[in-house]
Amino acid sequence: MKEFEEFREKFLPDISKRILELLPSSSKYTPVFNRALSYSLKTGGKRIRPLLFLAVAYSVSAKKFKSRLNSLIDFSVGIEYIHNYSLVHDDIMDGDEIRRGKPTVFKKFGPDVAILVGDALLTRGMEILYDNFPYSAKVILQSVGVPGMISGQAGDIHYSGKVKTSENAMWWIHLNKTASFFAGISVAGILACSVFDEKFRKKFFDFGLNLGLAFQVRDDLLDRIGKKEKYKKSRTDLKNRKLTTLRFYTIEEAGKIVEKLTQNALNSLKNLPVKGEILKSLLKKLSIREM
Ligand code: IPE
Ligand code: IPE
Ligand code: MG
Ligand code: MG
Ligand code: MG
Repeated sequence: MKEFEEFREKFLPDISKRILELLPSSSKYTPVFNRALSYSLKTGGKRIRPLLFLAVAYSVSAKKFKSRLNSLIDFSVGIEYIHNYSLVHDDIMDGDEIRRGKPTVFKKFGPDVAILVGDALLTRGMEILYDNFPYSAKVILQSVGVPGMISGQAGDIHYSGKVKTSENAMWWIHLNKTASFFAGISVAGILACSVFDEKFRKKFFDFGLNLGLAFQVRDDLLDRIGKKEKYKKSRTDLKNRKLTTLRFYTIEEAGKIVEKLTQNALNSLKNLPVKGEILKSLLKKLSIREM
């Protein structure tokens, strides 16, 4: 298997299936909440984070990948739950009404239900991670906490609407709110295949961090220039005066930054004995993504 596209086609159906099967049970006393919870996952999404986790695992050991496949898939679903929790809460914070071409969870069900949906996705996600690869679970949880995603989101809110900012603050926010999770996912992927070597760990951490930064810069760009038919999200960065890359760089410069960060991510894996083709093709695809 060489291309990411082939990899995605092969494993996305399993991920999608388990996303629904692993949901916590519903209760007859919480009908709106039940609907909101399944709605939050049925609206789709690229499923990039679970696929990245699987692709990293595959790249370090095709043999272990095969023998641990079921657990790896479930773990990747835990990652996707945590990602979806972050989006449900992010939309409340950003006041965004459209995501993946559909009303956001808080818009459709109200903020109180949306907060609980996020909480349920986070706690269930944590449980699934722990059930499958506890060492990897710890790494993921460290990456989405404080410091990590929550710190980044707190910084994002703090700087929203502020005139006085700095480029350093912007990179710190991007690093924490988005890149940290990608780094955690990459390290979790190697640990799940029993690669405990420190050098590997450091390199995959750098790989994920650079990939995550590139991902967020591209997201900032798409908020401004994304085509309506593809990028189906509310665009409120300007209105909310968000501290994004485009406060400091032109559209063209931001595009170059995505390329540079993507190259950095690629370089991180140089000289490592890994099957890197799928990761390489994933990086390329993400650097020019339209959605
Ligand atoms: C959006 O993530 C949040 C960011 C960190 C930019 P994705 O672009 O992966 O969202 P979905 O899951 O595909 O909708
Ligand atoms: C989101 O950043 C980062 C998260 C941790 C969810 P954004 O606020 O830019 O994400 P989108 O554009 O709404 O998906
Ligand atoms: Mg947002
Ligand atoms: Mg946000
Ligand atoms: Mg955005």
